[in-house]
Amino acid sequence: MLMLFQRDKWLQYRAFNSVPLLARRLPETKLLGKESLHDMLLQHSSVVLKPCDGRYGRDIVFIRRLKTGTYQIQNENNIITMQNKSDLQDWLNQINMDREYIIQQRIYLARIQQRPFDLRIMVQRQKANSSAWKVTGSYAKIASRGYLVTNVTNRTMSVFKALQLARVGGRKLLLQVEHTALLAAKSLEVHYPDLRQIGFDIGIDKKGRIWIIEGNYRPDLRTFRRLKDSSMYRRILWYQKH
Ligand SMILES: Nc1ncnc2c1ncn2[C@@H]1O[C@H](COP(=O)(O)OP(=O)(O)O)[C@@H](O)[C@H]1O
Ligand SMILES: [Mg+2]
Repeated sequence: MLMLFQRDKWLQYRAFNSVPLLARRLPETKLLGKESLHDMLLQHSSVVLKPCDGRYGRDIVFIRRLKTGTYQIQNENNIITMQNKSDLQDWLNQINMDREYIIQQRIYLARIQQRPFDLRIMVQRQKANSSAWKVTGSYAKIASRGYLVTNVTNRTMSVFKALQLARVGGRKLLLQVEHTALLAAKSLEVHYPDLRQIGFDIGIDKKGRIWIIEGNYRPDLRTFRRLKDSSMYRRILWYQKH
């Protein structure tokens, strides 16, 4: 039977945020509205807008408030400038706003050759009741030139190598990342009792801090399948079957 677990970034945020150890690893997040846009842009010079049901980095908008009082908007690799707040509001009103969006503090992701990257951490559990979550695979994904989202990429590498190249940490940080993903998976059990796999996007900022970006309930396995070393992919398939 194919289980459908609904994507809902706002519900997921609230589940994570209710666990203190996870709350401190979440970017500040609100449901998008006129007021929250105003508040968030006062507090943060850069914010991210994401549709609650979004995927593949589509329709994600980065807004940066510049010292001149203008606003820079980036979607995919396109950048436009709004002269003031009301132009920004008008622009937002005319994009597809019949969907629900969250507005989030932008994390300054660590970079490799000037390109931001984040980590995909695959966690799974077996079918048997109350079996424990395990990390079954991982890789780092590096954004394409000109992009701020890491979804649009074919450049991946091992998580360890990425942390080394970016000089933000080593094994100890990786263990903390994995621990965070396992804790986050556990926090979703009450909402999705039958959920058995989650592909987490975990960000590391320039200071080596860990940020939970999101968990995907139907993660794309193509990257794992393409890896020369097939051990992760085989483990993932094994967990899907058992
Ligand atoms: N708050 C943020 N700060 C910086 N980059 C972000 C932020 N949120 C998302 N991103 C980037 O955008 C990508 C896509 O966002 P994500 O929340 O995973 O949505 P999607 O469901 O479209 O994959 C992330 O993998 C990350 O690279
Ligand atoms: Mg994602």
